[in-house]
Amino acid sequence: MSISDYKKAAVIGFPIAQSLSPLMHKHWMQQVGIDGDYEAIEVAPEHLGAFVEEAKRIGLSGFNVTVPHKTAILPFLDKIAPLAKQMGAVNTVKIGENGFTSGFNTDGIGLVTHLKTSVADYSVDRPALILGAGGAARAAALGLLTEHIPMVMISNRTREKAEAIANEIGRGRMTVVDWNARMDAVAAAGLIVNTTVLGMSGQNQLDIDLSAAANDTVVYDIVYKPLETELLANARSRGLRVVDGLGMLVHQGAAAFKIWFGKDVGFDAALRSKLEAALL
Ligand code: ATR
Repeated sequence: MSISDYKKAAVIGFPIAQSLSPLMHKHWMQQVGIDGDYEAIEVAPEHLGAFVEEAKRIGLSGFNVTVPHKTAILPFLDKIAPLAKQMGAVNTVKIGENGFTSGFNTDGIGLVTHLKTSVADYSVDRPALILGAGGAARAAALGLLTEHIPMVMISNRTREKAEAIANEIGRGRMTVVDWNARMDAVAAAGLIVNTTVLGMSGQNQLDIDLSAAANDTVVYDIVYKPLETELLANARSRGLRVVDGLGMLVHQGAAAFKIWFGKDVGFDAALRSKLEAALL
């Protein structure tokens, strides 16, 4: 293998130490026979522009972008893909010929791919209920609307943020549910997606009563630390189908990998056990 075949990619964030992305991308590089490396790089907000220049100079194939840079990165890129533009956030940058930088967002695709591979027959007749209105909620809403979910309800503690998402990307197919009325929306929902930080290690639990949920409701938690949140344990104990957050991470990564290297990769058992071990 010549030196020019050596591929480098990275994830940038601030802080970044906890990232599972290096483990995941190195697994795939090995699997498809790419000689290369994937590094987690801490980039302070004031160094973001300089990092993009450095990434071109050292010949990265591309990099992932995480908190707090997903929106701040936009002005430093040459081109933004339509979905990322709609989202106002980029999680994947490809560096092409002559250092041309393109920004993509694979978070929504990641969420929906994981949903579809985990529960093929979730109900599309009833609306989805998204809890939260941060970047992950926006990705979830766009992902679900781009797929075949006809209506999406969104509920957030700070109602204005939910309204902003519904207005900006809802295409008339999103309604806002008051945070205090979130329990009432449970009975109507075919899919419930938690995108808040509630249930994550060190955070409070999400307070939601699932007793009114229909039997075929799917409960999806994008939190993956812990993998089995109280929300999922509660849903499971009621016989509801559950989807954990690890797959969203993996599938957004797989979509990024495809953008950089043109290879299809997925969520195989070996990868799941490596990630689960890293989460312990
Ligand atoms: P991300 O961009 O990763 O989705 P974020 O923007 O920090 O993360 O969003 C966190 C979400 O968790 C928000 O919807 C937040 O609600 P607010 O918009 O009202 O802040 C929600 N959240 C955090 N703590 C919460 C709490 N104690 N109760 C209810 N919602 C909470």
